[in-house]
Amino acid sequence: MPQPSIPVIAIDGPSASGKGTIAQLVASELGYHYLDSGAIYRIAALAAKNQGISWQDEAALANMAKKLNIRFEQNQIYLDGKIITEAVRTEEISRGASEVAVHPQLRAVLLGLQKGFRKAPGLVADGRDMATVVFPDAQTKIYLTASAEVRAERRYKQLKEKGIHANLADILQDLQTRDTRDQQRSVAPLQKSENAKLLETSMLSIEQAVQAVLDYSEQSTSS
Ligand code: DC
Repeated sequence: MPQPSIPVIAIDGPSASGKGTIAQLVASELGYHYLDSGAIYRIAALAAKNQGISWQDEAALANMAKKLNIRFEQNQIYLDGKIITEAVRTEEISRGASEVAVHPQLRAVLLGLQKGFRKAPGLVADGRDMATVVFPDAQTKIYLTASAEVRAERRYKQLKEKGIHANLADILQDLQTRDTRDQQRSVAPLQKSENAKLLETSMLSIEQAVQAVLDYSEQSTSS
C-alpha cells in the first residue's frame, strides 16, 4: 500500500516543457523512483488503438484500462510483455493521449495505478495533475514551464537528432492545440497548484533547472 509519509516531488507542466528529463535526473540524483504519468495516458491511447477502441469511447476506455498489463523496467515500457517505449512517443499517440485524458472515468481508473508508484525512499512524479489530484499531499510541488516557442524549438531539435523529418510551425501549432485541450478539460485540467513553485525554464539549461528543483525540494522538506 502507498504510504502517505513517503516523500513525493510533484512536477507538473505543459507538453515539451522538459519536465520528463528534469524529473528523471532529479530522481536519479536523490535515488528516488520515477513516475512518467504522461506515459500512462500514452499507453492507454496506444492500447485502445491496438484494440480498435475509439479515443472518444469513455466507457470502453475505462474498461480496457482496468485490464492494462504494463511494466516499466530499465527505461523501457512494456505492454502485454512487448516493448512499446518508442511506439508511445509518436505524434499520433501524443494526440491520442491528450484526447483520452479528457475522460473522467478513464482518469479514475488510472489514478490508483499512479498512486501505486509511491514507494520508499521517495518518488518524483511528472505530469499535469500530480500536485493537484494524484499526490495533493506531495512535500514538493513544482510547476515547470517554458514559452510555447521554446518548447516547439526543443521538440524540433529532438526529432531532428533522431533523424525524423519535422516542421517547426506544425510542431508549434500541435503543442498549442494540446496545451489548450489539457488546460480546458473539465476534469483535472493542467493548472498550477496554488502552493506550487513556478519554474520558468525558457532561459535555463537542463542542469540549472535540475539544480533549481533540488534546491527547492531541500527547502520545502526542511521548512
Ligand atoms: O507529458 P506527456 O506529453 O507525455 O502527456 C501526454 C498527454 O497525457 C497530455 O497531453 C495530457 C495527458 N496527461 C494527463 O492528462 N495527465 C497527466 N498527469 C499526464 C499526462
